[in-house]
Amino acid sequence: NYWDVNQGAIGATAQNIAEAAKLLQQGDTVAFPTETVYGLGADATNTTAVLQIFAAKGRPSDNPLIVHIADVNQLPSLVQSDSLTTDHLALMQAFWPGPLTIVLPVLAGSLSPLVTAGLQTVGIRIPNHPVALQLLRETGLPIAAPSANSSGRPSPTLASHVRDDLDGKIGGIVDGGATGVGVESTVIQLVDGELYILRPGGVTAEQLHVVLPKLPIHVSEPTEVEASDTPRAPGMKYTHYAPKGFMHIVQGDDVQEVSAWIQQDIDAAKARGESTGILTFEERAGEYRADLILACGSLSEPDSIARELYGALRTFDHQGISYIVAEGVPDSGIGSAIMNRLLKAAGHERIRL
Ligand code: TXA
Ligand code: MG
Repeated sequence: NYWDVNQGAIGATAQNIAEAAKLLQQGDTVAFPTETVYGLGADATNTTAVLQIFAAKGRPSDNPLIVHIADVNQLPSLVQSDSLTTDHLALMQAFWPGPLTIVLPVLAGSLSPLVTAGLQTVGIRIPNHPVALQLLRETGLPIAAPSANSSGRPSPTLASHVRDDLDGKIGGIVDGGATGVGVESTVIQLVDGELYILRPGGVTAEQLHVVLPKLPIHVSEPTEVEASDTPRAPGMKYTHYAPKGFMHIVQGDDVQEVSAWIQQDIDAAKARGESTGILTFEERAGEYRADLILACGSLSEPDSIARELYGALRTFDHQGISYIVAEGVPDSGIGSAIMNRLLKAAGHERIRL
């Protein structure tokens, strides 16, 4: 069951979304586009349905799912309303619909316990994508939706990525074309008047600071040891996004030195018989020789790097590249999310020159 809402008449589009909504109501899984990445949705109140998400993705059961809603009016039926502070409301006002997931105390019994993986909290967001919003509205349900990739693979930014990973394991895909942001939502939690970024993503720390200038902002780095009092997104402990080949990151202030180092490293790998790849940017792609050089967006427009990152990681796999060197990006703005995902993809193998 694959539907393409871009192809075919507008009527067919509405019809496909209606059909997808019906599947979700019946307890099936459907992949759909959001502004960040494709999600694999199921009725968050239906344990049998949610089980199918974990089964299709091969996802560890201790990793909770994000719940997607169409309207803030759905919140009181899902979370403890008295826990909502003016800071929460300011964030919702500023960033919803959008790539911000807010972790809140769950209203007992409102969701399948599998969604929260036994936690007392639930991550909720309103996605900013017309197809996602229409689908959510038509179901009238809270929809649990992790990224629609096999666990550990790069998240899908195209319907074809979903098909590559999950064909035959899910009820269907609504194809809305390429997603916009390209990396997942920012997951945050407010604790004792301080803001914790549990996963950097589409909303930057700088943007959060503008909305809540007085609030201290902490970033829970995925490299932190597990035993910590800091709230963390359980999902961040898992290996993710890794291409099949070996990958490491090279970073430095002197771009000449970086390109020279990378070229030498790649040449040595080639001499050992590796199939070589370089993940770089439009401005720098001309500097290199390798079997596959991917210009992943432009350094002058970091949003374009985020948008193309996961597709690029998948391309290395398709081309059978066994040895990849990636250039790093400055760790600010959307660059924080990009570096977070690159480091995970590289298993934290990083060389700083
Ligand atoms: O952009 C996105 O967020 C996409 C689209 C589909 O909405 N979804 C997504 O879901 O990335 P997923 O399951 O791949 O990542 C969810 C992250 C995980 O790191 C998980 O541990 C964290 O959110 N999370 C979910 N519920 C949580 C909770 N109650 N407390 C802390 N972290 C939570
Ligand atoms: Mg994911």
